Amino acid sequence: MPEEKTFHMSLEEFRKNGYAVIDWIADYYNNIESFPVLSQVKPGQVRASLPDEPPVKGEAFDAILKDINELILPGVTHWQSPNFFAFFPANASGPSILGELLSSALGVQGMLWMTSPACTELETQVLDWLVDILGLPEKFRSGGAGGGVIQDTASSATLCALLAARERATDYKTNSCGCDGRLIVYASTQAHSSIEKAVKIAGIGSENLRLIDVDDKFALRPDALVEQIKKDRQAGLAPCFVHATVGTTSSNAMDPLPEIGRICKEEGLWLHVDGAMSGTAAVCPEYRFIHNGLELADSYCFNPHKWMFTNFDCDCFYVADRAALIKTLSILPEYLRNKATESGAVIDYRDWHIPLGRRFRSLKLWFVIRYYGVEGLRFHIKRHVDLARNFAKWIEESENFGLVVPPPLNLVCFRHKGGDSINRQLVEKLNRSGKLYLTHTTLNGQYTIRFSVGQTHTEEHHVRQAWQRIQETAGELENA
Ligand SMILES: Cc1ncc(COP(=O)(O)O)c(C=O)c1O
Repeated sequence: MPEEKTFHMSLEEFRKNGYAVIDWIADYYNNIESFPVLSQVKPGQVRASLPDEPPVKGEAFDAILKDINELILPGVTHWQSPNFFAFFPANASGPSILGELLSSALGVQGMLWMTSPACTELETQVLDWLVDILGLPEKFRSGGAGGGVIQDTASSATLCALLAARERATDYKTNSCGCDGRLIVYASTQAHSSIEKAVKIAGIGSENLRLIDVDDKFALRPDALVEQIKKDRQAGLAPCFVHATVGTTSSNAMDPLPEIGRICKEEGLWLHVDGAMSGTAAVCPEYRFIHNGLELADSYCFNPHKWMFTNFDCDCFYVADRAALIKTLSILPEYLRNKATESGAVIDYRDWHIPLGRRFRSLKLWFVIRYYGVEGLRFHIKRHVDLARNFAKWIEESENFGLVVPPPLNLVCFRHKGGDSINRQLVEKLNRSGKLYLTHTTLNGQYTIRFSVGQTHTEEHHVRQAWQRIQETAGELENA
């Protein structure tokens, strides 16, 4: 009798194809600088290259891998290129890629401690290690009332913090009765847009989000916050949540946490601190100043998937009082009941975030921390900040360009002195060249170029070359 076709990839084939994929990845990283950093495809081009119909018959793995090169790579923007200076980085590293691979292989669902104890316990341990690594307040450690959890993104962390704050402010009644439209949330005009999304999702409403004015360094003004809270109370509203940022998206501004924290304590407001980008800087003791005042916060998050060499997605979210978060999000249907949960001796992370299911994300972070060690992480973070500071010095010394604001860490905001139009053309032309990728923002109503240093393999010569290209391209535009 002929053997029945299984359609599966046999283990022998898996081994062979797996080696081919690892080779592909190593070659990709080796050649990454030969690709245009920003994908140059036109809208619809990638899709048009794909068959209209799905394959009825399975295909050879070689053919699939070949299409990665031919069909997919042209439509990829190379975030792992050392010439990527756009947005904020979403960096990765060898250990994180391999950790991710193992996580996919294990394919566990860590919703409950019981569904894979190692998934929960490794996560708890790694998040406690990070309290040491970043010098975070002790209250975020899992041994006390607080603790940390890995979320997919900082947006989710903000939403979870806001939901817990909403419940704490309404004695856990909003969960059952809905919002009454009185709760008010505060953030600076420079806060990430995820806070606006969070207030919409949480049912608080975007009209109840107050965007507070900033100072000349784009940091939230505590006096303006106090004034707004007062106005809202006088209007019979219920202030409940302040979202402060260390390292804003536009300019890396640092909101003054000690003053904001004091106001939150006096007013009884939940303080959430968003360190999505810049939190990682605190691996270096010399940059820990960014977290001064964090001991006054109720919750905090930062993204290893931005700057800690851990591929997307991985956000570390900490709360000072885990009971508030769990009480807000906990659901226990019959089919999830188990003895370990009932014993109260374990953490069930399903109660710490929005989805039920959860991946084994701590593996990749654990791999990164163990492989680099704190020493290796510090080495690279300091190097990135030094590279950005050198770049800023060149800008300051140049006749045609100027800094818009002094760079606190690894993001440099600058402008050509010729006005918005030349700056806009400069960014477009540089990005079209494929040699580097930069993005922009608006600061003080002016088009501003952002130069963000944080890609894993960016070295001094990449930054030097970028500056050279920026100057040359500006020269061409000036003479056009
Ligand atoms: C300060 C800040 N907060 C939040 C976010 C949102 O990050 P995520 O994609 O993890 O939701 C960003 C993204 O760049 C950011 O810069």
